[in-house]
Amino acid sequence: MPELIIRFTEADAARELRADVRAGLTDSPKWLSPKWFYDAVGSDLFEQITALPEYYQTRAEQQILSQRALEIAEVTGAATLVELGSGSSEKTRLLLDALRKHQTLQRFVPLDVSGAALRAAVEAIALDYPELRVSGVVDDFTSGLSALHAGTGRLVAFLGGTIGNLLPAERAEFFAAVRAALQPGEWLLLGTDLVKDRQRLVRAYDDAQGVTAEFNRNVLRVLNRELGADFVPEQFQHVALWNAEQEWIEMRLRAARPMRVQLAELALTVEFAAGEEIRTEISAKFRRERVRDELSAAGFELHRWWLDDAGDFALSLAAAR
Ligand code: AVJ
Repeated sequence: MPELIIRFTEADAARELRADVRAGLTDSPKWLSPKWFYDAVGSDLFEQITALPEYYQTRAEQQILSQRALEIAEVTGAATLVELGSGSSEKTRLLLDALRKHQTLQRFVPLDVSGAALRAAVEAIALDYPELRVSGVVDDFTSGLSALHAGTGRLVAFLGGTIGNLLPAERAEFFAAVRAALQPGEWLLLGTDLVKDRQRLVRAYDDAQGVTAEFNRNVLRVLNRELGADFVPEQFQHVALWNAEQEWIEMRLRAARPMRVQLAELALTVEFAAGEEIRTEISAKFRRERVRDELSAAGFELHRWWLDDAGDFALSLAAAR
């Protein structure tokens, strides 16, 4: 039977949502954290995004993993695979299969904020990999690292390019926390999207079918439901732009006209001028030197750097120093 350790409850999430939304919507310029995109509807929209012709990232990372999984198993000889934000079961299985073939893997520790998604994932994996000890941890990947079962031979996987959603200072903190949880010689496997032609980047976040626009607006529906807010999502325009200086994509929601929004559960009224924007996500794009330097600053040594055939996405394998 797989175990499930709950360190982050629905009540914790509700409390964090309230604090976060109050901070973001009373700030200037306004912002919302991308972590609130992923309710059931948002998670489904994200799945649709991963299949869009414009959104190359998921396919690219999958290609690298299928080409390199055995090498990852050989180099790391991992006994424990820890997966942070483990929404990605197909990719997980590529790694698990390779590590199983290599006969070193004993334990799988997926960590995710969504208890429901994690329970389903853990049960499916436990059925298909009966020899594996599976311990799911419900927690926030930015704060849940201390829960990583002590042990040796750990490989921590953080895939999907989600690292790009953190601001540079948050990334530094995150890498340092991962490093602090590990012993020298243990491993981090990191997926990062790469800097490329700006048109392609913008299209990946502003697709022709408008799926990403709906994904973006969905955060307002989450606030309507969870905080008794009265946003009219249709009155917000989806904006995706390339910030060349920071080398990140920004998603925003732009108020089509002046608006006053009530958030009943926060006893908060928020005013919007016509054209005023809420920043809802940054998605940083990387170059090799930046990944190497940020990992190095946290005490990791970049050991392997793999690209997909098109050179769009990178997978890094780094060792704790
Ligand atoms: C899953 C966080 C990597 O930043 O590209 C997709 C989320 N946002 N389309 C990303 C997302 C808009 C995605 N990550």
